[in-house]
Amino acid sequence: MKHLIDLDDFSLEDIDSIIKKAIEIKTNPSKFQEKMKGKIIGTLFYEPSTRTQISFQTAMLRLGGQFVGFDNPINSSVAKGENLKDTIKIISGYTDIIAIRHPIEGAAKAASLFSSCPIINAGDGGHLHPTQTLTDLVTLKEQKGNFENLTIGLCGDLKFGRTVHSFVKMMLKYKGNKFIFISTKELSVPEYLKNMIVKLGGEYEECSSLEKSIGNLDVLYMTRIQKERFCSGEEYDAQKDIFKLDCGKMKLARKSLVVMHPLPRVDEIEGCVDDDPRAFYFKQAANGIYARMALILHIFSQQNCKNVSVKGQKLNMSCSNKRCITNTEKYLPKSFLKSNNEYICEYCDSRVK
Ligand code: NCD
Repeated sequence: MKHLIDLDDFSLEDIDSIIKKAIEIKTNPSKFQEKMKGKIIGTLFYEPSTRTQISFQTAMLRLGGQFVGFDNPINSSVAKGENLKDTIKIISGYTDIIAIRHPIEGAAKAASLFSSCPIINAGDGGHLHPTQTLTDLVTLKEQKGNFENLTIGLCGDLKFGRTVHSFVKMMLKYKGNKFIFISTKELSVPEYLKNMIVKLGGEYEECSSLEKSIGNLDVLYMTRIQKERFCSGEEYDAQKDIFKLDCGKMKLARKSLVVMHPLPRVDEIEGCVDDDPRAFYFKQAANGIYARMALILHIFSQQNCKNVSVKGQKLNMSCSNKRCITNTEKYLPKSFLKSNNEYICEYCDSRVK
């Protein structure tokens, strides 16, 4: 079975063919309207969502399939105390594919261990959001033609922004991309991503001024401060409203800049920017349908895929990340991958020394 937990699960050829397919579907949607006839996607959303949930459901409907699921776990047996394992065992027996969004890091990986159908990670806490990256890639392909030699600014909540983590990991696989991380110290990009960039010979800079860096960018990826991931309201209040993209800053940017945002925005992009031809975030959101249609088709086209289990060492230690699924769903086999003198939690990517 082919799950999509992290884009590392797919080869670059797989990803390129999904992007191509998405653009083909966009050009000629009627050709695909029966491809998933008789198939059902389960959309299990343990966390709020507008675009991701509705675009997964619409994608399946536009392919001729159907969807079932919940958009609030309060209305499911989760509210009665059912664990993730049991929910997944049951729903994967009812459906052909599952898209799961969960507030806890590593939840999609955990779900894949118990599922009898493919699992798609639709966002696991502040960790990853691979299908948003597919959406981002479709948009970049349309606007830039390729994914190489770009100076990419990422601005806002780079710590908890899962879309940022998946996007950076992906863009690092293409040649010559340089990253400018624009954030406060408190919300800077996780250490493991910076280490990964260095290890793969990539380039990055960290800076605290959008105004100073915007003129050097080919792509600006704005993000929302992820209020729901903060420990306290005071901590969030200290971070909100620091970075704002407005028409004044757009004047300092290149003509060819592509402004992206996974949405929803709060007030990090002023409304006047929406009318700028360099603002692509609404087109980006629209591409989510085609990216997800292409992904569903790709997953169903896979043959001879193996069932997954954990790959790492089952050590007798706990993940030090309190937001890791292994610390809430205690029955999960703890599994760590060894890299130099560190152990990396296989569910949430945290480093344990
Ligand atoms: C993002 C998410 O859920 O991570 N939204 C989305 O899926 N398009 C970004 C966010 O919530 O800020």
